[in-house]
Formats: sequence, C-alpha cells, structure tokens
Amino acid sequence: MAMDCTTALVPCLNGNDMSDEKDKRQTAKPWGGRFSETTDAFVEHFTASVDFDQKLYQEDIDGSLAHAKMLNKVGILTTEELDQIVTGLESIRQSISSGNFNWSVELEDVHMNIEAALTDLIGDVGKKLHTGRSRNDQVATDIRLYVRSEIDSVAKLISKLQNELINLADQEANTIMPGFTHLQIAQPVTFGHHLMAWNDMLERDYSRLLDCRKRLNLSPLGAAALSGTSYPIDREFTANLLGFDGPTANSLDSVSDRDFAIELAACASILMTHLSRFSEELVLWTSVQFNFIELPDRFCTGSSIMPQKKNPDVPELVRGKTGRVYGHLISLLSLMKSQPLAYNKDNQEDKEPLFDLFKTVKDCLLAYSEMVPSIASNKSVMRAAASQGYATATDLADYLVNKGLAFRDAHEVVGKSVGFAIERAKDLSELSLDQLKSFSELIEDDVFEVLTLEGSVNSRNHIGGTAPAQIKRAVAAAREKLAIR
Ligand code: ARG
Repeated sequence: MAMDCTTALVPCLNGNDMSDEKDKRQTAKPWGGRFSETTDAFVEHFTASVDFDQKLYQEDIDGSLAHAKMLNKVGILTTEELDQIVTGLESIRQSISSGNFNWSVELEDVHMNIEAALTDLIGDVGKKLHTGRSRNDQVATDIRLYVRSEIDSVAKLISKLQNELINLADQEANTIMPGFTHLQIAQPVTFGHHLMAWNDMLERDYSRLLDCRKRLNLSPLGAAALSGTSYPIDREFTANLLGFDGPTANSLDSVSDRDFAIELAACASILMTHLSRFSEELVLWTSVQFNFIELPDRFCTGSSIMPQKKNPDVPELVRGKTGRVYGHLISLLSLMKSQPLAYNKDNQEDKEPLFDLFKTVKDCLLAYSEMVPSIASNKSVMRAAASQGYATATDLADYLVNKGLAFRDAHEVVGKSVGFAIERAKDLSELSLDQLKSFSELIEDDVFEVLTLEGSVNSRNHIGGTAPAQIKRAVAAAREKLAIR
C-alpha cells in the first residue's frame, strides 16, 4: 500500500517511510535494477501518472497487441509466445473494463501497470513484450490513438448539431428579424439566414478537425526511446494494424513532439469560440429586452430568491467553459516550448488538459444539439424589431440608385429622410409619399414595395444573401454535405 504523502509530506521527503516496504517497492519497478535507494514516497506519487493515464488502457493494449504481432512477424516472438501475450492482454483488458484491475502507483503509469500484470498472468513470456520498444514511443502512440478516436466522436457531435441547425433554418427561412452590426439594427435578415451562419462556422470547425486528424494519423511506434531500435522491426506493419496511414519519419521527433495535441486544442478553441458567440446571442435573445426566442424550461434554471427568473444557464455555461478549453491550449503550448529533443517527462502533463478538453467540448456540443431543436422564435417580436430600426434605409438608397442617383447622393438623401422620420417617431414606410418626395423627386409610389421587410429580404437573392429562396438553397446544399459524411 503506497503512503499517503498529502498527509505525511515531511517523512516522505526525508525518505523515512515504511522501510520494510522499501525493497518490495523498488524491486517491483521495471527500471529498478540500476537503483540502490528506493524512490522517495512523495516523489513516487509526484512522478506517477497512473491515476489519470489509466484512461488510455484501451489504446495501450491495442498498441501492445500490434507491437507483439509485429515481433512475431519478424521472428522475435514465437507464435506460441504471441498467443500467450494476446490472451493475457485481452484478459487484462477485460478486468480493467469490469473494474477489477488493481492499479498501483509504484508501477507509475498505465504502461508499466499493464506490463507487470501481463507478466504476473502469463509468466516470463510477458517480459518479452517490451523488446524493441520504449514507453516513449508507446505513450506517443497511445496519445495519438486517443486523440484520433476523440476527434471522431467530436466530429460526429458537430454533424449532429449541424443537422439540428439546418432543420431549424429550413423552418425559419421566412422569419424576418433585424440583422445587426455593432449590435445596432442594420438591415432585415431572415432567422434561417442567421442559423445557417452558425452552421457554416461549424462546417469549418469540422473540416479543421479532419485536417488535424490527417496530420496526426502516423505511427510513432518503433521510434523506441529516441533513436529507433537495433531489432529488425517492421514499422509499416504496426502502423497498418493500428489504422495509421504509415510510420512517422524521424524517431527523435516522434517521441518528443505533441504538436498534434496543440493543433487539436487550437481547433477545439476555435470551435468553442463559435459556440460561445452562439451562446452570447442566445443569452441576449432570451432577455426581456430582446425577447426574440424562448428556450425550453428543461434547459434553464430559476433563481432561489427571484421567483420570476428563468436563466439561460446552458448557453452561459458553454460560454464560460470556452475559457477552460483556451486554458488547455495555453497549457499544451507552454508544455512544449522549452523542451530540448527528444522525450522529456514534461510530456506527461499533456494528458489531463486533453482529457478535460474532450469532455468539455463533447458536453457542450451534446447540450446544444439537444437544445437547438426546441428553440422557439417569437416571430412577431423579431418582425417588430426589424421594422423599428430603419432597417430598410439601405433599400431606399438602392432604390434611388436604380432610378439614376449616385450611391453617395442616395446615401445623403436617405440619411436626411431617416432624421426626419426619427423626429416624428415614424418608420420610413410610415412617411407619406409627399414627405418622402421632399427629399428626392425620384421617389414615386413604388417606393413602398422596397420599404417593406419582405421586399428587402427578397431582393438579396444571390449566393450568400438573406432571401428565403437562398436559405432554402443553402439548406439543401448543407444537407447534401452532411449526407456524404
Ligand atoms: N508516463 C509517461 C508519459 O506520460 C510515459 C513515458 C515515460 N517515459 C520515461 N522514460 N519516463 O509521458
């Protein structure tokens, strides 16, 4: 039983702990041969990673199986030895997944725990597994396998959320709302258009993740400690067994760099930036001041003191959790920046940021994909807001340009008309023809068509424009992309 150094720090540092246990602890260490003194119990805890890296047991066992099969292929393990190792590793996998495995801090990490358990289980043959490999290439392989499979889960969740956004955009293709710049009402847009903007951000997040996956999908196995190995290994073979596109090129680089993890964290940070912007809008829009949308009660909470409150907790938390993910990106960048080649123990610190990052990102995407289908738009409120903010002023300018006025002059005419309308607390469409004509003789009866919200949105009928016809087209194109994933 390892000593609890959080409650006994001083004795641990002095090395006075449990002297009768020392020999047992040190001989248990796969690297114990060279050492004449036991590891200080505090140091043992401080340097161990098993408490968290046991999460990588599936990847570790998969990597070991591939390595053992390769050793058999090149004649280092007999088929009988391989069979024992395979059976042993599979039974260890079984006991870990059923919660019956005894993890030991003395054995430092997931790799040495599993290897020691294998030898306990099948005897001396287990000791042959580590031939031609090091924990350095082993952990680099595990972490790439882990990141790769988590990328696949995140990519699926992004697609799920996109699907929900696209469905909602389809329903809301004709819903008119104000579009904003500087958070001031700018021009009328359709709610479907706004929803498809979010979809397009997620589309880029998805493709960024796939790019990252492509770059990381190479096998470091065989790089060994740092320089390769003198055994006649077959790196193509293990790469292929593990679903990698091939082996990495340089052994020093393979065991040391974690740029793929940094790149992933950068992709995740951008994704979270998008979710956070989305959240900010949902928070604003559910406020009494905007009142554009309703979120379902099951995604909100109340206040313990103010009975009227319904708080948009889920979007607020997603916005808040964005900071955690940025933090993990900075952790990983800082972790790498001063490391000389090749492997350094610093790299053990890559795991917890990655674990938390994936949990956070997946939770946020899941929450959003469940919540988005139940966003209910307050159509009349959105419409009223669009008609209040002189959102069709640009349309009036464009109308005058069509009648022959230069755009800058048209801008001036409309500016004056808006000033006039503001003084009278009226919308442009509520001014009389005579009042409008007093700013330009070019204005005629047909002006009222362009001053309507429908006229305005329908006129922006080109790729990327807000016209409902374009939203329907964008929805169909986005659905096609999702269908072939
Ligand atoms: N636990 C270590 C890590 O996460 C495994 C590799 C250790 N290698 C070593 N030579 N100490 O990076």
